[in-house]
Amino acid sequence: MTPLYILMLSVHGLIRGRNMELGRDADTGGQSLYVVELARALGGHAGVERVDLLTRLIEDQQISPDYARAEEPLGAGARLVRLPFGPRRYLRKESLWNHLDHLVDRIIPWLRQQHRLPDVIHSHYADAGYVGTQLSQLLGIPLIHTGHSLGRCKRERLLAHGRNADALERQFNFNRRITSEETILANASLVVASTRQESEQQYGLYESHQPSRSVVIPPGTDTSRFAPPAKAPIAGAVVQMIDRFLKVPHKPLILAICRPEVRKNLGRLMDAYGRSPALREQANLAIIAGQRDDIRDLDEDQARVLTDLLLKADRYDLWGKVALPKQHRAEDVPHLYRLAAQRQGVFANPALTEPFGLTLIEAAASGLPIVATADGGPRDIVGHCRNGLLVDPLDTDAIAAALQSVLADPRNWRGMARRGIASVARHYTWDAHVDKYLKAIRRMLHKERKQTRREQAAHLHPGSTNPLPFVKRMLVSDIDNTLIGDRAALVRLTAVLRGAGAELGFAVATGRPLESTLAVLRQWRVPLPDVLITSVGSEIHYGRSLREDVGWTRHIRHLWRRDELAAALANVPGLRLQKPENQRAFKLSYDVDPTRMPPLRVLRALLRGHGLRAKLIYSHQAYLDVLPVRASKGQAVRYLAYKWGLPLRAFLVAGDSGNDEEMLLGDTLGVVVANHSPELAGLRGREQIYFARAGHAAGILEGMAHYGFMAEEEEVTA
Ligand code: GLC
Ligand code: MG
Repeated sequence: MTPLYILMLSVHGLIRGRNMELGRDADTGGQSLYVVELARALGGHAGVERVDLLTRLIEDQQISPDYARAEEPLGAGARLVRLPFGPRRYLRKESLWNHLDHLVDRIIPWLRQQHRLPDVIHSHYADAGYVGTQLSQLLGIPLIHTGHSLGRCKRERLLAHGRNADALERQFNFNRRITSEETILANASLVVASTRQESEQQYGLYESHQPSRSVVIPPGTDTSRFAPPAKAPIAGAVVQMIDRFLKVPHKPLILAICRPEVRKNLGRLMDAYGRSPALREQANLAIIAGQRDDIRDLDEDQARVLTDLLLKADRYDLWGKVALPKQHRAEDVPHLYRLAAQRQGVFANPALTEPFGLTLIEAAASGLPIVATADGGPRDIVGHCRNGLLVDPLDTDAIAAALQSVLADPRNWRGMARRGIASVARHYTWDAHVDKYLKAIRRMLHKERKQTRREQAAHLHPGSTNPLPFVKRMLVSDIDNTLIGDRAALVRLTAVLRGAGAELGFAVATGRPLESTLAVLRQWRVPLPDVLITSVGSEIHYGRSLREDVGWTRHIRHLWRRDELAAALANVPGLRLQKPENQRAFKLSYDVDPTRMPPLRVLRALLRGHGLRAKLIYSHQAYLDVLPVRASKGQAVRYLAYKWGLPLRAFLVAGDSGNDEEMLLGDTLGVVVANHSPELAGLRGREQIYFARAGHAAGILEGMAHYGFMAEEEEVTA
């Protein structure tokens, strides 16, 4: 077996190999640690040649220049690779969405420079999943996805908390996230969950969730950092950090470590402690909740959580019993667990939901028993380790009672501490994780490769030669309502094209089939393009010989089952098959009666129910195109760029309607003509999409002038 090359994507947060700033903000937490440690553990495995963990390159005065380094080694066989996209400054994850198409287009040329293509792409969280899905479709590389948290669950939780739906949407962009998550799950070859509950109940909320393609592998902990007090020292500075708050420091310590988020339910923990005289007598409480200088400078949610804690400490008069340090370093954390263990304390995690519970495993490895929410992660952990109690996070008295009971009996306490240490080594190391992970990947790759071989055996033409070796930039235009519609302007545009010489390539990208494309171009006296992307991107043909790009055909054939799709859609109300010449090997098209057609969501569910996969493109309230998952005009343009080694910025693309959207997004130089359909209005203001004041071919010319497209003498570089 050839060792694997794994490309991991984790785009948001502040990720670096050393001294991670966990808890610095809401986006820099467990996931950052998870991806770095997974990359390291995989890189060290004999079955893996190399792991590249790709993240965002950030240049920002407010943050360390570490995050602006293009590369950072993570140990043998693993490295961090940072690519810039969008603005240079740091952005919270909700603001990254509009820039993700540019990341896709940054990764493609980067991949060309690597010695080989990855065997798998593993995306973490929905934003990376969006990028990973596109790369996977474009390059034909299987996608593995780990959600870390899921939009549907988060939205439900916040709604249950009485938050206003519209306000939530503005703050978190849920619709976009959830739509992307559905697409990711529909396309991923493997989904990795941390717990059974996460897999069944959380991914289970998604229509595209497929249990047969998901595995549960608990995260590892870097157990070398976590050890019980008998095995490792406790730094005096860390003892000081806690004890300066406490009147009687030697009492058992109840410890909580987490970001100051509403979900972590820290207020309830403070209530449980504050309201129980017995517990207040028995133990001290330390809450390590992120970093702060001035609470008023924190973001609103964090400030609210911390203010609430301070008010509660004051209300119950807990001064001298509660430690709330303002700052701590990542390397203090193991010492904090050990300190609490040394004082025969308990780790408390009463979060409202806890899919994961990394801190619980760290506590267990440190010999510190736990009290945690009876939810997915903790259930599995306490099940494996038998080192503590589960509680209902909404029941204040139950939290207090559980804490008391863990602290009550020293013999029982020692048993829990011992079992925690032993079980973590058995179930929760990264080595154990990587073994299961690689087995799952090998199984998946084996299945995928068999499938690809079956698909390719059916159709084999000799490869085509390159018609585009001298082209340095390329105009790609939609036909109807973009290229054609204004004869006089079209004459001006074709004159420009003819005058430009061999360095300027010309392509059309249209929903029409090849024959009707050729007919309409003749009718409008358009010179024959170098490339014809037809039938909504499902076919690519070159130049005068009309040679088909069979590589593209082979590539998009993946998972395409035309007859079964046609049968499944045969009786859907509001759909009527278009005329025969519009039906292609890789495109099924319907005329739509929009008053009768069920929503696309329902159609997708119907296809899924038949075990079928396809891309549905709805245009002009009149047409429904059913395409292979890997086909679209946008994907076809990217395929050309990749295949012919042209950067996407060398492509000026022009369009007017919904099926042009994908090719307008991202790094291509986008031009929307003035007479565009309403569905493109949403692209206004997006980076590198120019809305022309003129319509049709005049709009294209205006766009070319806007980008200085013809003026450029030298080759466009990535
Ligand atoms: C063109 C094609 C038709 C398709 C439509 C939308 O009109 O001829 O088959 O459905 O574009 O993409
Ligand atoms: Mg059009």
